[in-house]
Amino acid sequence: MNSVAPLTAEGYRQELQQLLAGALQAFAAAESADQLEAARVHYLGAKNGLFKNVQKQLGQVVVAEKPLAGKHLNEAKDQIQEAFEQARLRFTAELRRGSLDPQFDPSLPGTGQRLGKLHPITQTIEELIDIMGRLGFTPAQGPEIEDEWHNFVALNIPASHPARDPLDNFYLAVAGRQTAEPLLLRSQTSTVQIRVMEQTRPPVRIISLGRVYRPDTADPTHYPMFHQIEGLMVDRKVTLADLKTVLKLFATNYLGSKVPIRIRPSFFPFTEPSVEADYFWNGRWVEFGGAGMVDPNVFAAVGYDPEEYSGFAFGLGIERLCMIRHQITDIRHLFTNDVRFLRQF
Ligand code: DAH
Repeated sequence: MNSVAPLTAEGYRQELQQLLAGALQAFAAAESADQLEAARVHYLGAKNGLFKNVQKQLGQVVVAEKPLAGKHLNEAKDQIQEAFEQARLRFTAELRRGSLDPQFDPSLPGTGQRLGKLHPITQTIEELIDIMGRLGFTPAQGPEIEDEWHNFVALNIPASHPARDPLDNFYLAVAGRQTAEPLLLRSQTSTVQIRVMEQTRPPVRIISLGRVYRPDTADPTHYPMFHQIEGLMVDRKVTLADLKTVLKLFATNYLGSKVPIRIRPSFFPFTEPSVEADYFWNGRWVEFGGAGMVDPNVFAAVGYDPEEYSGFAFGLGIERLCMIRHQITDIRHLFTNDVRFLRQF
């Protein structure tokens, strides 16, 4: 027969105390939820936990002292469990405030919320609307999906013109519309000139700002979608001098100091004469955009009498204006939408 030395209640209590001390130390030393769980399994695990072993030893306590030993056992168990609960509380509290740093100071101000901002292109658009508003121009809008009449025909761009090449435009295939007039993503905001003149009688003084689309390969200065600002003024006796004055005031207001303007002869189907405008900025001439006096054929397309009215129009790239102002060297940054870039503006 196996002769094991009989245990007294006091001896059993001492074993329990030893176990308790070890468990308390392990729970206190745990630095993560995982470590605490490992300590729990080691001491309180249902299968091979140390406490389970000591519990089994109760059978070795002398019969007369068993009730007392049982009491010690229950007390120890309560204490270990209480210690575990405490450790867990300490631990979930630490987890909840996201830091194990014992120096955590709950009275410090929190991390502030970062507020969003408008995209630099949107900021530019709002500023341009404001500047042109002060010169008496009202914003007008037109659709981004256009027909050939508004994008080309009414603008005096004949069918043979290279600007109408299908490879230079985003023509749309619309289901069930094969026989109808082709649609395309507008390639210029000049479309809005036509839409406005079709619906209003002179005098007209509008700007139109928005997206235009051309199948260009993206590089530092090209992107298949970009933004233009279009201006149109029609009245009796509007002249090229008025155009130059408006462009000069526009550039001066946008760039914040007196900006010289120059115009060079050019060609656009919808203006006659046509010009390219440049402004002088930071020691060099910078391309502003196209402009000119509205071609009589355009007036005819919208039913204005070219003998009675004259007008000027201009079309400028908004990205270019935005990039000059903020010294952005690659248009693609504007559309990658990396917040680290966008935050700077
Ligand atoms: N629509 C032209 C373009 O996209 C820009 C332009 C040139 C607009 C002359 C005009 C204009 O209104 O008069 O290149």
